[in-house]
Amino acid sequence: LGGSKVKEYIVNVRTAVESDYKLVIGVLVDWWDGRDLRSKVCEDLFHHFNNTCFIVEDENGELIGFLLGYLSQTFHKEAYISWIGVHPGHRNKGIARMLYERFYEIARKNGRTFVTSYTALVNIKSMQWHKHMGFSVKEDGDRYYFKKEI
Ligand SMILES: CC(C)(COP(=O)(O)OP(=O)(O)OC[C@H]1O[C@@H](n2cnc3c(N)ncnc32)[C@H](O)[C@@H]1OP(=O)(O)O)[C@@H](O)C(=O)NCCC(=O)NCCS
Repeated sequence: LGGSKVKEYIVNVRTAVESDYKLVIGVLVDWWDGRDLRSKVCEDLFHHFNNTCFIVEDENGELIGFLLGYLSQTFHKEAYISWIGVHPGHRNKGIARMLYERFYEIARKNGRTFVTSYTALVNIKSMQWHKHMGFSVKEDGDRYYFKKEI
């Protein structure tokens, strides 16, 4: 399942299914400190990109983390992470790192050499986290652009 930090917490990591869209939408505002970004989550990802979209559940089947990403159709060396979120009560346990590493693995198997992501400039914590995870950081208009070779 990835780093030893997460083993005792994670019961299930699986690829997303269509019905997970509602679960993710249901936690988004809370996990994003009250920011309402729900309209920006693309429901199609759960259906047409589910081999690069992951759901983490606790022992009761409750959602505790998710990653939504895809292999770029336009740039064949690139894989893109659209969303990463971890339940506030389960942070700093290595869950997001484990999900990123799982994503890198699939990206590499598909010939991708780098991963990119964006976050709004207001999300300083996300910027700091991506930096910690080895991403380069650039400001691009009203958002940060992250990139990492994998
Ligand atoms: C950002 C987020 C996904 C991190 O999830 P997490 O599961 O707590 O992260 P991890 O425990 O896997 O952290 C991995 C490493 O980053 C470090 N880290 C955690 N939060 C950090 C932060 N805010 N800044 C810098 N480093 C951080 C951890 O200590 C850990 O270090 P190590 O593996 O080198 O020992 C989580 O805080 C979150 O859901 N935030 C709200 C949603 C959001 O803003 N998402 C990103 C934009 S789409």
